[in-house]
Amino acid sequence: MIRIMEPRRLKLAVLASGRGSNFDAIYSAIAQGELEADIKILLSDQKQAPALEKAASRGIEALHINPRDYKNRDEYENYIVSKLREHEVDLVVLAGYMRLVGKVFLNAYKWRIINIHPALLPSFTGLHAQQQAVDYGVRYSGCTVHLVDEGMDTGPIILQAVVPVYQEDDEESLAKRILVEEHKNYWRALQLFAEGRLFIDGRRIHIERT
Ligand code: GRF
Repeated sequence: MIRIMEPRRLKLAVLASGRGSNFDAIYSAIAQGELEADIKILLSDQKQAPALEKAASRGIEALHINPRDYKNRDEYENYIVSKLREHEVDLVVLAGYMRLVGKVFLNAYKWRIINIHPALLPSFTGLHAQQQAVDYGVRYSGCTVHLVDEGMDTGPIILQAVVPVYQEDDEESLAKRILVEEHKNYWRALQLFAEGRLFIDGRRIHIERT
């Protein structure tokens, strides 16, 4: 078993493509002293992402990086990694970042990129996870915080939270219920890194008890 990170005050980068409500929840947890971290930079691949505005209005550097400005994914990710290194980022938080992470990024931040997915993995990977859960007819769904590997929503699981799925639910109502849990659990998972309590053993993550 290998400890993923020694205890520290985290230097975070958040990558977001859209709304940024998870960014906000993490920001608030820091402001309230619940999460020992600082958000050094928010990066977005989408110029119009509301997350960029949100970060800037909270005094956090917000940067749009357009993948189309780069020859290929490696070059795009090399630029991202250079920005992260400039800020001495030690943990990368994907919060609604709608791209697969490639080898350049993964190698630079091995087991230090985390994601939140709005379903109980390994069920319902990819887009429209909440609609997939409604269509399948499951009675429970939820969210999963996990380490990022080369697959889509396949990396080792850190935390999961469960919500009921009601017969009347549609994608929107279920997404809303799951989002409440996302906002409570993403920063908690980050705090486990800050406390140095996460160990990795194959694809299993062990949380050290306090
Ligand atoms: C969340 O539902 C998250 O689980 C998924 O994308 C959504 C991002 O929402 N990966 P927001 O931009 O954080 O509001």
